Amino acid sequence: MKGTPIQWKNELSTGNDILDIQHKELITRISKLLEEAEMLNSATISSTIDFLFDYVYSHFVLEEKMMIQTEYPDFEEHLEKHSYYVKYINNLKKNRLITRELISEMQSVLFVWFIEHIRVEDRNMAEHLRQYCNAG
Ligand SMILES: [Fe+2]
Repeated sequence: MKGTPIQWKNELSTGNDILDIQHKELITRISKLLEEAEMLNSATISSTIDFLFDYVYSHFVLEEKMMIQTEYPDFEEHLEKHSYYVKYINNLKKNRLITRELISEMQSVLFVWFIEHIRVEDRNMAEHLRQYCNAG
């Protein structure tokens, strides 16, 4: 991961503009956080974690509203995934001692998990939203 910028890829597109814009912003912020962690830049790291927490939280709330409004069948499962991620970032807010172990853990949870979540669960959800809107 070191030295490799985290980039948006077309395969992450959900086809939903609002979700895609927010996912891109989140990827940029996660990338910034990992860079700051690598540099052990504690001066900026806490404000980035705070931003990330607030942004992730409101982004997930938006997705959850969309799922409820369209009676998404995998809502509960998707909600559990969101809860896991929000809890993880909330713990980061409390524990700001940056170690090498924590950096590699953040890379796999904050970044790898999130990319996989967009690629699989969010794309499935977006497909459902499309079908629901077309049917209505
Ligand atoms: Fe999601």
